[in-house]
Amino acid sequence: MTTHPTSHSTSLPTELFTKECSEECPEACAGFVSLVGAGPGDPDLLTVKALRVIQHAQVLVYDRLVSQAILDLAPQNAERIYVGKQLDFHCVPQDQINQILVDKAREGKRVVRLKGGDSFIFGRGGEELEVLADNQIAYDVVPGITAAAGATAYAGIPLTHRDHAQSVQFITGHLQKDGQPINWQSLAQSNQTLVFYMGLKQSPHITEQLLNAGLSGDTACAIIERGTTAQQRVYRGNLATLPQLAQQAESPALIVVGSVTSLHEKLKWFKG
Ligand SMILES: C[S@@+](CC[C@H](N)C(=O)[O-])C[C@H]1O[C@@H](n2cnc3c(N)ncnc32)[C@H](O)[C@@H]1O
Repeated sequence: MTTHPTSHSTSLPTELFTKECSEECPEACAGFVSLVGAGPGDPDLLTVKALRVIQHAQVLVYDRLVSQAILDLAPQNAERIYVGKQLDFHCVPQDQINQILVDKAREGKRVVRLKGGDSFIFGRGGEELEVLADNQIAYDVVPGITAAAGATAYAGIPLTHRDHAQSVQFITGHLQKDGQPINWQSLAQSNQTLVFYMGLKQSPHITEQLLNAGLSGDTACAIIERGTTAQQRVYRGNLATLPQLAQQAESPALIVVGSVTSLHEKLKWFKG
C-alpha cells in the first residue's frame, strides 16, 4: 500500500500537491485535499501559495463567496463542484460536502476546497479537516485574508490604533445557531473594535445587547458591504442607528463597532 503524508507528516504537502501522479512520484497518486482561503473578494488578494495550488487542482469544491476570477485560475479541465450556502438555505448539506471531499480524495484526486476569506474564520474549515483526519485523508491548509482584515483595510478603517482600540474581536452574527451564548459584557468595552460577520439580520438584537451591556449609543459604527470589490460600499453611523443602517446594506457585509470607524472619512483610499 502506498503511504502518503498525513497531517502529522513532516513532508511538504503543497510540493506534493503540485506533482503529477507517476512512477517516479507514486505518493502523488494518492488523493489530497488542500483547504484554501480565497480572500474576501478582490482576486489579487489571493496568496501566491493559493494560486499555485489552484493551478494544479483536479477538483475544485467551492463556496458562494469565491469569485469567478479565482475559479478561472484553475485548469479548464478541473471538475468544479459548487456547494455554496446562503443564509438559512444550505445548497449542499455539510455532511454531503464532507463526503464529496472524502470521495474525491479517495479517487486519488488533487482536491482544492476553496472558501471565501479564511477557512478557519467562520468557515467550518476545522469541521471539514476533522472529517478528513478521521478518514486518513492527507491535507494541508492555505490561509486566506479574512473579510475583517480585507474589508476594513480597503475601507481605511484600521482594526487597532493606539488612540482608539487595543484589541479586536470577531463575532458571528448567527448568534443562536453558532454554538455558545455571547458574553455581551466582554464585548461592551471601550478601546476595542468589534467585527460582526453575518450580522445584518441580527443588527437590532446586536444593538440592544450592546446598549444593555453598557456601550454608548454614540459609539461609532460602520457597515462594509462587498468589501474589497468594485461594489464596495461603506455606511457610517453610530450604535443607536445601526439597525437603520443595516436596512440599507446588502450581504455580504460586516458590521464594525468602535471609534476606529470614525477614521474612515480621513483614511479612505479605495475607489472601487
Ligand atoms: C460564512 S462567513 C465566511 C467568512 C470567511 N470565512 C472569512 O474569513 O471572511 C460569511 C460572512 O463573511 C462576511 N464577508 C465575507 N466576504 C465579505 C466581503 N467581501 N465584504 C464584507 N463582508 C464579507 C459577511 O459578514 C458574510 O456574511
